[in-house]
Amino acid sequence: MRIAVVGTGYVGLVTGTCFAEVGIDVTCIDIDSKKIDNLKQGILPIYEPGLEEMVLRNSQKERLSFSTNLAESVQGCQVAFIAVGTPPGEDGSADLKYVLAVAREIGRSMTDYLVVVTKSTVPVGTAAKVRNAIREELEARGANIPFDVASNPEFLKEGAAIDDFLKPDRIVVGVDSERAEQVMSKLYKPFLMNGHPLIFMDIPSAEMTKYAANAMLATKISFMNDIANLCEIMGADVNMVRKGIGSDARIGNKFIYPGIGYGGSCFPKDVKALIKTASENGYSMEVLKSVETVNDRQKSVLFNKVMNYFSGDLSGKTFAVWGLSFKPKTDDMREAPSLVIIEKLLEQGAKVKAYDPVAMKEAKHSLGDTIEYGKDEYETLIDADALLLVTEWPEFRSPNFAVVNKLMKEKVVFDGRNIYDAREMEEKGFTYFGIGVKQAMVPQQTKETV
Ligand SMILES: NC(=O)c1ccc[n+]([C@@H]2O[C@H](COP(=O)([O-])OP(=O)(O)OC[C@H]3O[C@@H](n4cnc5c(N)ncnc54)[C@H](O)[C@@H]3O)[C@@H](O)[C@H]2O)c1
Repeated sequence: MRIAVVGTGYVGLVTGTCFAEVGIDVTCIDIDSKKIDNLKQGILPIYEPGLEEMVLRNSQKERLSFSTNLAESVQGCQVAFIAVGTPPGEDGSADLKYVLAVAREIGRSMTDYLVVVTKSTVPVGTAAKVRNAIREELEARGANIPFDVASNPEFLKEGAAIDDFLKPDRIVVGVDSERAEQVMSKLYKPFLMNGHPLIFMDIPSAEMTKYAANAMLATKISFMNDIANLCEIMGADVNMVRKGIGSDARIGNKFIYPGIGYGGSCFPKDVKALIKTASENGYSMEVLKSVETVNDRQKSVLFNKVMNYFSGDLSGKTFAVWGLSFKPKTDDMREAPSLVIIEKLLEQGAKVKAYDPVAMKEAKHSLGDTIEYGKDEYETLIDADALLLVTEWPEFRSPNFAVVNKLMKEKVVFDGRNIYDAREMEEKGFTYFGIGVKQAMVPQQTKETV
């Protein structure tokens, strides 16, 4: 089988590479010629664990190739995925201009039956727009070529994208023709060996499923952050509360960790887009509006703790920041809470020294030389007035605290992800602030009995 994947970003590159891995002939296409030139030389545009090796292996086997020429690349393909960006427009709705531009180009160049699949996250009704765009281009050519559209939203998580793609919790495909269903069944067969479900449904439901999934996950995060803030006020420990509620199977223990707000390229824009879709259709998504409000507020929580501690005067203070990417194991800086926190610190006349294992190059695009970058996490601590743990990279979990203590000017830690234990930190001589944990009032026996 031969397929084309249009848009070679986080989703397109992982999708194309994983299909090649199971033996399918894949061409990944992008309009960014530098990106494609680099990929041809084995240089990847993003950091994703395990991806580089897989790209190189499949390129060498000639199952995976890269091109800027969509017209040439779709020839002989049975499926063309659209995996380009759908950034938020000014009003919060998903901007479909890239998706529809690709659809038009496909319509201008296809010569045989093709299933055109939207993998980008798109609102209900987009597949119909894709179909119209292709149809118009075919009509303009006077070409009578059959095609189908399908919706196959992607659920991969950056940082674990390959595993998620190869061993998915589920694959959702929206179709409205038997032929398309057969083609998509054949394409995904290699991924179903271990019982992973392939769920076929109508196209609007598939489009909605992606937004509903991200909206639910964002809701869990904001709910838990709200509870954490209240815990802090009331003298409860959210780490205990999390364990207490997570053991209820109806709630589950995943995605209920409090922190400094969700970021990344998906949750913020998808929550906005769903609110917008609803309002355009006369409905108001009250829960999601609050999810957004809580999240915006949460991005300032760590900064507010810093301000409180230093009595509102940060001028001349130096802050070490550990972690810049919006979450660990990715270099993605889109909507990263670190950007909000750093901007606020700089506005107050503070100095910031940051370290991230992979995202510093990406971070420099937005932060430039407004901050200093450490060669490792320890270097950022030299003469620091406080440490802010912003992204919970595994290597930050168990640092050499004796060294940390020695390097810092003031022994203060603001832990935005609750990766350290309040009591242990205090025993090690640090003044410690977590999220949703009011240290002085945490009953220690409760901790030991959990
Ligand atoms: N990043 C994620 O974790 C994730 C997960 C699930 C779904 N999604 C969705 O997948 C879509 C893509 O996201 P991403 O993070 O991969 O985006 P991205 O910005 O990393 O990549 C998009 C790519 O599309 C290319 N492109 C734009 N217009 C093009 C055109 N006309 N022809 C060819 N290439 C073109 C861009 O140059 C870019 O390389 C979005 O809708 C997103 O919401 C993303």
